[in-house]
Amino acid sequence: MFTVFVFLAVRLLGVTSSTVPLNSDVYTDPRCQGNIKNLWLDIMVVVDKSQLMTNAQLWQVRNTISQVFGAVSTFGPTKYPADPRSTCVGLVTYDGNATVNAQYDTSKSFNDFYNVIQGSLVSVDSTNSSYLSRGTGTSLDPVPTANRLKNNGVIVITVACTSDKNAISKIQSLASPGYSFVDEMNTSQLVKQLTNALLSANCFCPQESVQYKDDYFNETSTKYGICVTGYTATGGSYGYPHAMEWCDYEIKNSYLVSEFSQNKHEFVKNYMLDKFKYMKPTAYYIGLHYVDNQWFNPNGYSNWAPGYPQSNSTGQVIASQAWTNGSLNYVWAPPQVFDFLLVCQVQSSSTEYYTTYSEQESPF
Ligand SMILES: *[C@@H]1O[C@H](CO)[C@@H](O)[C@H](O)[C@H]1NC(C)=O
Ligand SMILES: *[C@@H]1O[C@H](CO)[C@@H](O)[C@H](O)[C@H]1NC(C)=O
Ligand SMILES: *[C@@H]1O[C@H](CO)[C@@H](O)[C@H](O)[C@H]1NC(C)=O
Ligand SMILES: *[C@@H]1O[C@H](CO)[C@@H](O)[C@H](O)[C@H]1NC(C)=O
Ligand SMILES: *[C@@H]1O[C@H](CO)[C@@H](O)[C@H](O)[C@H]1NC(C)=O
Ligand SMILES: *[C@@H]1O[C@H](CO)[C@@H](O)[C@H](O)[C@H]1NC(C)=O
Repeated sequence: MFTVFVFLAVRLLGVTSSTVPLNSDVYTDPRCQGNIKNLWLDIMVVVDKSQLMTNAQLWQVRNTISQVFGAVSTFGPTKYPADPRSTCVGLVTYDGNATVNAQYDTSKSFNDFYNVIQGSLVSVDSTNSSYLSRGTGTSLDPVPTANRLKNNGVIVITVACTSDKNAISKIQSLASPGYSFVDEMNTSQLVKQLTNALLSANCFCPQESVQYKDDYFNETSTKYGICVTGYTATGGSYGYPHAMEWCDYEIKNSYLVSEFSQNKHEFVKNYMLDKFKYMKPTAYYIGLHYVDNQWFNPNGYSNWAPGYPQSNSTGQVIASQAWTNGSLNYVWAPPQVFDFLLVCQVQSSSTEYYTTYSEQESPF
C-alpha cells in the first residue's frame, strides 16, 4: 500500500469586510473547485517496500506520484512572504522499519523530488513483513497513529495495492472518510483519483467551521466551497445588525448564512441542532433580509412559516422551530425577542482561493 499524508495550512482567513455580497455568482453554493497546477499543500508520501508489494506495484507508485506532482507548478519551499503557495512533498518508505528518504523541505524542485523517487522506489526489498501489517494491537499499530493525525486536521489518503478484501478494509480504516483508494494497476485512473483527492484536501475551512456538503450526516457526500459556523452571542439582546457584524468579526469576510435551497436549509438545521444540542435551540439568525422592498431570495426558494412574511415583517429573518406543530421543522420567521444564535458562512480555501497560510508542525 501507500499512504499520502496531507498537512493543511493553519486556518485563518483574509482581510476585507463585507455584508451579503450582491453579485450574482454567489447565489449558488459552488462545488470545491481546483487546479492541480496551483496546489499548495504539505504532503508526506509513505510507501511500503516490503515483499507485500511487487516490483510492478512499486513502479506503478513511482509513475503515479511523479505524474501527480509533476503537474504542480510551484514545488518546494518558498520564501515567505513571497507568494507562499507551493507544495512540499516528502517520502518515507518502510519494510520492517521506516526510512525517511526525504523530508518536506528536502526537494527544492520537482526535479529534486523526481530524483528522490527514482532513487528510492527501485525494487522491493528482501523483508517479507511490513511495519504497518506487523503493528496491529502493538505499539506499532498504525490505527491510533492515523487517528491522531486525522484529529489534528491531517488528511490521510491511502492506496491499497492488493485485492485482498480484508487487507483493503484494514487500510481503508486508516484513511480520512472518502480518501481511500485501491490500485487496480491503471495509472491514469489512479493519477486522476489522487489528483482529485488532493484538490479536495486543498478545499478546506477554518477550524471552527464545518464544510457545507450535500448531507450533513454523510462524511463522503459532495463538498462545497462554503464554510458554515454557528455562534451563540451571549450578553444581551443584540439583534440583527449585531449578528451581521458578529460574522465578520469572528472570521473576516464571513456573513450571515444564505439559504438558497432546501438542501442548504437542511444542512444548516442539522448542523445547528448538532452543535448546540446541549441548549436545544429553537431559533437562529440566517442571512435572509429585505432589500429594495422585497425579500432577497434570488433562486425563488423560500421556507416561510405559515402566514409569513407579513407586510410588516420587513426586518431580518431567523430560522425558527415551527410552532404550528411539535416537529423539529425549522421555518423562516421574523425574530422573536431573544435570539442569541446565529449562523455565518464564508468561502472555503482552495487551490484557486488562497487564504493565510503557515505551515503546521510536521509530526515526522
Ligand atoms: C529494525 O531496525 C532495528 C535497528 O536497526 C533492527 O534491530 C530490527 O531488526 C529491524 N526490524 C526489522 C523487522 O527489520
Ligand atoms: C517470511 O520470511 C520468513 C524468514 O525468512 C519465513 O520463515 C516465512 O515463511 C516468510 N513468510 C512469508 C509469508 O513468505
Ligand atoms: C483506466 O482507467 C480509465 C478511467 O480513468 C479508463 O478509461 C481506462 O479504460 C482504464 N484502463 C484500463 C486498461 O482498464
Ligand atoms: C454518502 O454519499 C456518497 C456520495 O454521494 C454516497 O455514495 C453514499 O452512498 C452516501 N452514504 C450514505 C450512507 O448515504
Ligand atoms: C404585523 O401585522 C400583523 C397583522 O398583519 C399584526 O398581527 C402584528 O401585530 C404586526 N406586528 C407588528 C410588529 O406590528
Ligand atoms: C409541521 O409543520 C410543517 C410546516 O408547516 C409541515 O411541513 C409538517 O408536515 C408538519 N408536521 C406534522 C407532523 O404535522
